[in-house]
Amino acid sequence: MYVCLCVGATNQTVSDAVASGASTSKEVAAICGAGGDCGRCRRTLRAIIAASKPEPAPVH
Ligand code: FES
Repeated sequence: MYVCLCVGATNQTVSDAVASGASTSKEVAAICGAGGDCGRCRRTLRAIIAASKPEPAPVH
């Protein structure tokens, strides 16, 4: 599924970025570009980051 239409990044692309160490949407953007353009996907990026962390993420 595409999560970032600006760069055509999928949830798998973002999950890979998180697996390689990204823990914020900025870090995901630095690794794969997702979230670095219009920013509309950042909420989804944060959800993917939160889902791959063992501890619960704060709700914003
Ligand atoms: S949809 Fe991801 S930066 Fe625009």
